[in-house]
Amino acid sequence: MASSSRSSGGALAAMVTMAMLLSSAAAATTAALSPDFHAANCPQLESIVLSSVQTALRNEIALAAGLLRIFFHDCFPQGCDASVYLKGRGTEQSMGPNATLQPKALQLIEDIRAKVHAACGPVVSCADISALATRDAVIFSGGPSYSVPQGQMDSLTPAAQNLVDGLPSPRTSSVSALAKAFRDKGLADIADLVALSGAHTVGRTGCPFFSDRAGRMDDAFSRRLAANCSRQPAVKQNLDVVTPDLFDNGYFMALVNGQGVFTSDMALIKDRATAPIVRQFARSKDAFFQQFAKSMAKLAASPRPGGNVGEIRRSCFSRNPARVVETVDVEAGDEQDGFAASA
Ligand SMILES: *[C@@H]1O[C@H](CO)[C@@H](O)[C@H](O)[C@H]1NC(C)=O
Ligand SMILES: *[C@@H]1O[C@H](CO)[C@@H](O)[C@H](O)[C@H]1NC(C)=O
Repeated sequence: MASSSRSSGGALAAMVTMAMLLSSAAAATTAALSPDFHAANCPQLESIVLSSVQTALRNEIALAAGLLRIFFHDCFPQGCDASVYLKGRGTEQSMGPNATLQPKALQLIEDIRAKVHAACGPVVSCADISALATRDAVIFSGGPSYSVPQGQMDSLTPAAQNLVDGLPSPRTSSVSALAKAFRDKGLADIADLVALSGAHTVGRTGCPFFSDRAGRMDDAFSRRLAANCSRQPAVKQNLDVVTPDLFDNGYFMALVNGQGVFTSDMALIKDRATAPIVRQFARSKDAFFQQFAKSMAKLAASPRPGGNVGEIRRSCFSRNPARVVETVDVEAGDEQDGFAASA
């Protein structure tokens, strides 16, 4: 290839060849996400992400839940494309479910991106960094390891309002409605719904999100929650009242005792299809961990309706300026303007 472009002489021909090479590389990207995707172009990636996540979570363990929630909110509407990180008018962050996104967890991913790009150049997407950091946060809080497919491109646009509205609501009381929302995203097994809800093992939430519980249930736990909220309305409540900061099966033990905070949590123990799985996970942390790892792999491969196309963002919070050309290291870089003008 190199010699043929050399012999054809002109910079334009070289660039056309380069463009062809790059477009076939882009096609390969689409075909094969892989855990080793960045082994050659950014061998430091995993260690940078791991040490950044460990440092951040040592200071504030609540970031683990923040990262998990962001990852879910990213992947569910239109695949794991970092669309949720875009800021500004008309972005997912300006839509209803945004209140559950922790600003500090969003910022952590952007901070890691800056470190990774400083070390390797702009070759790793925010989507890939988000997926890796979420996995490392799960491990740091005591959860299972799992492999993370890499090679996702960052989206050019946020997801549309109707797709974001498809995120399951904590007020949903019907397992069949929850299961349908999951099925539509390729999470067809009812165990996916139960296992991914298990991410609430490190979750916290504001009082307005479970204010419907007291109306549905009159029990000691509801009264304690209500008392907490009337005393300190701004304080977040733990979703796993057994072991709030540990990624384990305490959430499922709490559910078995009727102590799920969200209506959607309680639905899992009341429904005939999901209750046996909740009980199994309450008995066996290993069973939960195995299913969680499988379900996270499925979530990471959520369908991208427009395909795996996009860019490597230079800031996770915004699209690249029009000037940034995706092709790095083009030999005749100085002549790109001329090429654009002549094209
Ligand atoms: C969420 O969106 C609403 C508007 O829908 C906005 O007022 C609010 O500031 C946003 N919250 C965050 C954390 O971005
Ligand atoms: C209520 O607040 C107490 C004290 O902060 C806390 O230990 C408890 O987990 C909270 N929630 C419930 C349901 O009691």
